[in-house]
Amino acid sequence: MTHPAPTGLLDLARTIALTAGALAHRRRSEGVEIAASKSSPEDIVTAADREVELLIRGLLADARPNDGFYGEESDATSGTSGLTWVVDPIDGTVNYLYGIPFYAVSVAVVQGDPDPATWNALAGAVVNPALGEVFTASDGSGAWLGDKRLHVNHDVSLSLALAGTGFGYEATRRVWQANVVGGLIGQVRDIRRIGSAALDLCSVACGRLDLYFERGLNPWDHAAGALIAREAGARVGALQADAEGRDLLIAAAPDLYAQFEPVLAGLFTRFPVDPQAR
Ligand code: IPD
Repeated sequence: MTHPAPTGLLDLARTIALTAGALAHRRRSEGVEIAASKSSPEDIVTAADREVELLIRGLLADARPNDGFYGEESDATSGTSGLTWVVDPIDGTVNYLYGIPFYAVSVAVVQGDPDPATWNALAGAVVNPALGEVFTASDGSGAWLGDKRLHVNHDVSLSLALAGTGFGYEATRRVWQANVVGGLIGQVRDIRRIGSAALDLCSVACGRLDLYFERGLNPWDHAAGALIAREAGARVGALQADAEGRDLLIAAAPDLYAQFEPVLAGLFTRFPVDPQAR
């Protein structure tokens, strides 16, 4: 099956993410309603998450009826084209709930099985409607913030790196993550917890963070952001040669990644992963 060039897919990802971002922003200004909780009481879904995903799903079904869909808030469907749209309608849901202006709509299209370890991400858009920022990338064509080409920070030593990370919703996992952060904080410039993995990855791409790592992400959290970070020159992966996935994602300029990887591996040895903390 022939596909549009990544630029055609990127135009669609950008248009849909902008439309969805406008809806999320409007709903935020009207007041946010918790619709349900998911893995834990802290892991919430708002009515807007569901409405925005429905909007994105409908727009994609009209434009690309043969593609699959894999989103945070509804059932996945496989398509016949070999392409799947991986969507987080609102990444940073807790920020959204509290009116903190760091939440994003994340829309990516990938080729192959919807598994980050093997898929080939073709195009992605991350829109932060509260700040009016639009991050985009397509395979081989660079990463952009609006019309500005993005490049990760280079030649940063680990001790001067500003690192971003995140915490999952399950208490055991958070405690483990906090232990790792406790082991790292004395070895870097500082640590940020922005609250949206998609924006963390875009922050690496545009130099607002030097590195980002997190364990326990879902594919929709990082599908678009990882492509944007890569296209800005980051290495994105896990420990050793592993690809990013639920167990770990690291993103940084290659030279910083090489400094950070053994340090994180050491912390993983010092604080063994609790199998319940998945
Ligand atoms: C969460 C955010 C957060 C990260 C969590 C994610 P959600 O996604 O990306 O920054 O630390 O691991 O689950 O729940 O806001 O879509």
